[in-house]
This record gives sequence, C-alpha cells and structure tokens, in this order.
Amino acid sequence: MNVVMIGAGYVGLVSGACFSEFGANVVCVDLNQERIDALTAGQIPIYEPGLSSLVTRNREAGRLRFTTALAEAVTEADLVFIAVGTPTRRGDGHADLGYVYAAARDIAPHLRGYTVVVDKSTVPVGTAAQVRRIIAETNPGADFDVASNPEFLREGAAISDFLRPDRVVLGVESSRAESLLRELYRPLNLIEAPILVTDLESAELIKYAANAFLATKISFINEISQLCEAVGADVHAVARGMGLDGRIGKKFLHAGPGYGGSCFPKDTLALVRTAQEYGVSSRIVESVVEVNAAQKARMVQKVRHALDGSEAGKRIAVLGLTFKPETDDMRDAPALSILPPLVDKGAVIVAHDPQGMREAKALLPDSVEYADDIYTAIEGADAVVLLTEWNAYRGLDLPRVKASMRGDAFIDLRNVYEPKMMAEYGFRYTCVGR
Ligand code: NAD
Ligand code: UDX
Repeated sequence: MNVVMIGAGYVGLVSGACFSEFGANVVCVDLNQERIDALTAGQIPIYEPGLSSLVTRNREAGRLRFTTALAEAVTEADLVFIAVGTPTRRGDGHADLGYVYAAARDIAPHLRGYTVVVDKSTVPVGTAAQVRRIIAETNPGADFDVASNPEFLREGAAISDFLRPDRVVLGVESSRAESLLRELYRPLNLIEAPILVTDLESAELIKYAANAFLATKISFINEISQLCEAVGADVHAVARGMGLDGRIGKKFLHAGPGYGGSCFPKDTLALVRTAQEYGVSSRIVESVVEVNAAQKARMVQKVRHALDGSEAGKRIAVLGLTFKPETDDMRDAPALSILPPLVDKGAVIVAHDPQGMREAKALLPDSVEYADDIYTAIEGADAVVLLTEWNAYRGLDLPRVKASMRGDAFIDLRNVYEPKMMAEYGFRYTCVGR
C-alpha cells in the first residue's frame, strides 16, 4: 500500500514512520526544504523519544522516504494524509484552515486512480466536506473519497500512543475508503485496538470533544487546587480519592501551572468558535479556557508571593520551559505566560531545559539567560521555579541546590517534591494545592 503524508511535523513524521513500521510504503512530503534536507540526511528535526531509530530502521528497509516533490508522490498513492498545522487564526480564535485547503489544492491535480484523501490534522466539523469540494473543483475527473482520521498521540509518548492506541477513529463516506483504511491499520488487530467507524462529522467532532474533555479535567483539578490551598487540603489526596472512582479515572487530574502545548489551547478555543458559529452554547469549555488563563496568572502571583511580594532585582532559576517533559515543543508553554510578567517587574531569569532552550530563545524576552547545566542555573538564585517535570528535575541534589542558592524559595509548580521533606532541607517551599 502506498501512503503519502503531507506535512512532516510532529504528527506527520510520527504517523508516517509508524505506518511504514506497519509495512506500508510511505513518502512524507513537506514544503520546508530545510526540514526535508535534514530528514534525508538522517537528522530528526524534532525531539521525540524513539523517533530517530524508528525512522532509520524504516528508511533502511526502503519503506520510508522524504521529499518536497508532492506531485510524483501523490500520483502513486492509495492514501494521502493531510497532517499540516491548524493553528489558531489571528483575531477570532477559529482554527486556521489555510494550510489544509492549500494542501488539498496541491494534491488535487496529481491524483491518479482511486485515492482516499484523509484529514489527520485536527479540523472543525465540515472540513472534510470542504476538502472534497476543493479537490472536485480543481480536478473534476479525480476518482477519490475523503475521510477523517483524527490523531490522539501525545508528544513525548507519540510512538507508543500511535502503535498502541486506545482507539482509532475513522470517519468515512464509502465502504471502499473504509476497507483501505482498515487494511492500513490491520497490524493493530493483533493488539485488539478498537477501530471506531463513523460519519465524517462525528469523527471530526470526536477529536475536539476528547481534547476539550481532557482540558476540562485539568482546569477542574486546578480550580480545586486553589480551594485546597484555601481550606488546608492536599490536592494529591483529593485527586486520588476522586480518581479511584472508575467513573472518574485518575488520569489528567494533576494540578499544575495550567495546560499548554500545540493542542489543548487552540482546540478548546476552536470548539468554542464552532459552537458560536452554530448558535450553540459552549459554557463549560469557555470556562475551562478562562480557568486555565487564571491558573497561569495565579502562578505569577505565587512566585511573587514566595519572593516576599517583589521580584524586582531577584534572581530566579527556572527549571523547565517546554509545555511538558520529553518534547522540545514550546507552543503555548506556560513558561511563555508566566515568565514575561516576572521579567517586566525586574526579575533576572536564568533558565534551563533539557531540550527546549533553542525554541525558547526565540519566544521569551531577550533578557532571559540560559544555562546548559542545572546547577549553573541555580547558582546564586533567590528562588528556584520548577516549571516542567523533566526527569532530570525529579532527583535534584537538594543539599547542593540549597547550598548554591543565595535565597531559600523553592516554587514547585508541578508538585514533584514533598512539602515536609523540602522544609527539612531548609527551603521555603511553595507548590500547587497542598
Ligand atoms: P507541525 O507544525 O509540527 O507540522 C506541520 C508541517 O506541515 C510543517 O512541517 C509544515 O512545513 C508542513 N506543511 C504545511 N503546509 C504544507 C503543504 N501544503 N504541503 C506540505 N507540507 C506542508 O504541526 P503538528 O504539531 O504536526 O500538527 C499537525 C496537525 O495535527 C494539527 O492539526 C494538530 O492540531 C494535529 N495534532 C497535533 C498533535 C501534536 O501533539 N502535535 C496531536 C494530535 C493532533
Ligand atoms: C494532547 C492530548 O493528550 C492528545 O491526545 C492530543 O492528540 C494532543 O494534545 P499533548 O498536548 O502532547 O497531547 O500532551 P498532554 O500530555 O495531553 O499534556 C497537555 C498539557 O496538559 C501539558 O501542558 C501538561 O503539562 C498538562 N497536563 C496534563 C496537566 O497540567 N495535568 C494533567 O493531569 C495532564
């Protein structure tokens, strides 16, 4: 089976490599020449654990290649996946579908024989129908179906999420398209991964509803964490007590600095806009977005409070910049909302991140300093702010941290450490909801 992946970003690259692992012949196409050159030279342009060896193995087996030459790849394809970005549109919060529609126009003239064009990008309801219209208008003779196959992988765990998914969702409009997609995903039958087949619109909505629901769990526990602080309860105990109820489930109940990343922030906003467009209320998701923004603002207050009310002239060591560990992705990372107000009020920030510093430099204020080593970042600091729970920060040499600081404030926005133990080490310890 010949598969083309349009877009070789986080999703396109992982999906393309995993489909080739399933045995398909995969060509990943990207407009970005630099990215394709790097991939062709055996370099992986993003940090995702396990991706490099997966790509190498399948390239060597001749099942995976990279190109900018879309026409030639599409001509041979049985399935063309669109995995381009759908960022928030400037001004109105809607998903920007410009890249998806451009990809549909690029593909259309080169389709030969029956082909299924599949949206893998996260797209609002109705997009597959628009892709169908664009292709039919551009190439009236094309023999094709459109399908929706939303992707649920998490960055940092993308390969295992893709190879062992909780479910695969296939939105289809013909049994022929369904058969081809089922054939592609057949290796998952071995692990009995559920394949849910729906109409196009339901598949498109499942993705947004799932992301909004997960974001809801996070905003819910973040709001409860504030109540925990007010009444003297421990949010860990509360989350555990809730999560042991199988109807609630223990995942996505970790209080923290607010969710970030390339999906939850933009997808919750886009869902709200879709509801508005159809004249339907979306009050829960609107509140989730508001609570998340408030949580990030609350983290700034927490740092300020731990520094006795003023961050001016204080040296703050920040551990972790990416929106979660095991990725270099800085899109909508909490660091981008929490650090600039501290810099504005005169804080001197020295940051460390195992993978995200290159990306962060382009996005954070110029005055932020970066250290290649954790303990260099901490040297002479008035406060340490633990912002992303990378493994490297879970086992800090705490006596060494304390000895190299000039102050004693340790602000743990991911609840990695235990309050009692931190007090014993001599820190004035602040965390979230405990
Ligand atoms: P990304 O920005 O990392 O990658 C998109 C790639 O598409 C870029 O390399 C860009 O150069 C390329 N591109 C754009 N237009 C093109 C065209 N016409 N032809 C060829 N290449 C083109 O984006 P991503 O994070 O991989 O996200 C892609 C989609 O998947 C989005 O809709 C996103 O919401 C969704 N998604 C992302 C994740 C995630 O964790 N990142 C998870 C699930 C779903
Ligand atoms: C998310 C979805 O999980 C995935 O299914 C979808 O395909 C893409 O969006 P991702 O953004 O890669 O994946 O990471 P995720 O692990 O979901 O974390 C998102 C954000 O929520 C991070 O900032 C993380 O720190 C935060 N989070 C997550 C919490 O604050 N608490 C939690 O309990 C879980």
